[in-house]
Amino acid sequence: MTAQQPTTAPRMPVAVVGLGPMGIVLAETCLRGGHPLTVWNRTAARADDLVARGARRAGSVAEAVAAAEVVIVCLKDYDAMYAAFGDTTRAAGSGRPGPLVVNLNSGTPQEAREAVEWAASRGFGYLDGAIMVPPPLVGSPDAVFLYSGPREHFDTYTQALETLGSPRYLGPDPGLAVLYNTALLEMMYATMNGWLHAAALVGSAGVAAADFAELAHGWFTPAVLSPASFRADAPDLDRAEYPGDLGTLHMNLNAIEHILRTSREVGVPDDQPRLMKEIAERAIAAGYGEQNYYAIFETFRT
Ligand SMILES: NC(=O)c1ccc[n+]([C@@H]2O[C@H](COP(=O)([O-])OP(=O)(O)OC[C@H]3O[C@@H](n4cnc5c(N)ncnc54)[C@H](OP(=O)(O)O)[C@@H]3O)[C@@H](O)[C@H]2O)c1
Repeated sequence: MTAQQPTTAPRMPVAVVGLGPMGIVLAETCLRGGHPLTVWNRTAARADDLVARGARRAGSVAEAVAAAEVVIVCLKDYDAMYAAFGDTTRAAGSGRPGPLVVNLNSGTPQEAREAVEWAASRGFGYLDGAIMVPPPLVGSPDAVFLYSGPREHFDTYTQALETLGSPRYLGPDPGLAVLYNTALLEMMYATMNGWLHAAALVGSAGVAAADFAELAHGWFTPAVLSPASFRADAPDLDRAEYPGDLGTLHMNLNAIEHILRTSREVGVPDDQPRLMKEIAERAIAAGYGEQNYYAIFETFRT
């Protein structure tokens, strides 16, 4: 089944705990997907619109938990989840297992692992997850949701999880979803900062970002990161093989120094190229100067 496909199959009762910008869209998506929906938010008024459209308002997290088989938690962080749940436990004598708590807030892998014990002590199943798209994409087949934790939870509740987007199961270690999430976000911020600093560099000569964009994107995607080269080069990282025959780290340091000197010359902040230079110099000091740029990975990995 793809996300949002109409179906006549009975839908699992779902609760959404947390109605910030993301939680509201998750709840709307569950409603559209036909799930009987219960919602709870610390600031209760945020549920008004959902209630007008058919959701049931829970007066407490305990009430939301008792009403659902899947409790989607989308709060600011793990501490907010603990605060919101207070001493809520699985409803005694409910005669059914669970519910499954699916926690979609961001955090650290250790926080996710600790949450498993917290959930087990309350009688909840637990899957940790991460949302890899902004709210407008939730519910579309392009909406990637990452999950980690017990495989049987993922398999049992796949139908409900598919309502939100395309679920990807990463493995039994509950910390994996937030670890992937932070790794992908790091890629996003590093790439965006590169683009913004580059736009500022050409902007120093009066070039509009809009004029630079087409050339920048057209160059970046095949020359630096094409889908084929990205996948083809990744195994070199696993093998720790960085042949420098097409370009060495020394050569790349030279290019980075030009970015640094140009930034200073045109009055653009130089902290980003300074950091890139420090990283390259550290790898050269560790003996990787005649290998290619990817050898920097050796100074990053644990
Ligand atoms: N928005 C996005 O684009 C996006 C994308 C991907 C992932 N995410 C993740 O989704 C999660 C939620 O994000 P968001 O954008 O909806 O907004 P947010 O500002 O991160 O979280 C807001 C929600 O947290 C609640 N909250 C905060 N502290 C609380 C506490 N101590 N006790 C109870 N509730 C508390 C708020 O309740 P009140 O309404 O009462 O303040 C509200 O429901 C975050 O972890 C975020 O990283 C967001």
